Amino acid sequence: MSAEPLEIYLAEQDIGRSLREDVRSGLTARPKWLPPKWFYDARGSELFDEITRLPEYYPTRAERAVLAERAGEIAATTGAKTLIELGSGSSEKTRLLLDAFTRRGGLGTFVPLDVSVSALRQSTAQIAAAYPGLRVRGIVGDFTRQLDRLPTGGRRLVAFLGGTIGNLLPIERAEFLTAMRAALEVGDWLLLGTDLVKDPGVLVPAYDDAAGVTAEFNRNVLRVINRELGTDLDPAAFAHVAIWNPEQEWIEMRLRARRPIRTRVLDLDVEFAEGEELRTEISAKFRPAGIAAELAAAGFVTHDFWTDPDGLFGVTLARAD
Ligand code: SAH
Ligand code: TRP
Repeated sequence: MSAEPLEIYLAEQDIGRSLREDVRSGLTARPKWLPPKWFYDARGSELFDEITRLPEYYPTRAERAVLAERAGEIAATTGAKTLIELGSGSSEKTRLLLDAFTRRGGLGTFVPLDVSVSALRQSTAQIAAAYPGLRVRGIVGDFTRQLDRLPTGGRRLVAFLGGTIGNLLPIERAEFLTAMRAALEVGDWLLLGTDLVKDPGVLVPAYDDAAGVTAEFNRNVLRVINRELGTDLDPAAFAHVAIWNPEQEWIEMRLRARRPIRTRVLDLDVEFAEGEELRTEISAKFRPAGIAAELAAAGFVTHDFWTDPDGLFGVTLARAD
């Protein structure tokens, strides 16, 4: 089957409005900040794919190792008819699940959801071509806002991979999990990928690679703003900064002004002092007990928790209770 046309839950004008709101509140705040979903235009999605292949970026390889080992078990335990993937990106690792479900039979529909139209167009076309019996319904949407519109029909498994849940603040994470649980029926499943707390000597290079791809990815948010809002923030005027915050147990990504910057954004005069930082993203790292507790608080029961052989990355299979 060819992929169905993308279903758009997030229209161009909603995206524009929410970008303007985010830029207005973020650039007038102290410290300045921008939410991470704006990294992912077509170029941002390509840069992220490049990140997943970097020697320093272990999460993708580690999560893939877990899925390769456990996909059959996940298919058998869940017996899902519909696989929904949030923040699906290229859905590359997801093929391990699709392969297992294909061997087992019974999965009818795959529903990848992402803010990135370009990533979804590519992934839905490729998956539909590779899995001829599968119905592929791509959704352009925001997983922090549109969980109430997930497709129904038969036992569902929602996959949220890549450690993307760590890009939400703890309060947003709790809201996300609660909304997720509300969108599911008792007996539906959640497959959650979480990066684990480890030596900062391993963590920091994963977010500050030698080739400078992550730096380009971080600066891409400025290119998105320039293009969408007609501003002229010079990406080269900002240095990429990745810091491990040991109290919060998260990586903080920032853009640091290399020189004083004055510019106009929307109807605002925006100034950066030399050295001033714009906070762009956190990537929280987890401990097994914490993951289970957060899931339980939202109404999920942990059925399995697996890591890769090196214990770098965790994958939880949880059931809506
Ligand atoms: N799941 C893939 C990609 C992870 S990168 C993997 O494991 O490799 C994070 C993905 O989430 C990107 O594709 C990005 O476009 C998407 N994303 C980020 N914020 C989002 C949001 N609020 N709603 C929907 N998708 C989002
Ligand atoms: N979900 C990914 C992570 O937290 C996203 C990511 C990887 C990212 N590298 C980044 C986001 C660099 C911003 C900047 O690992």
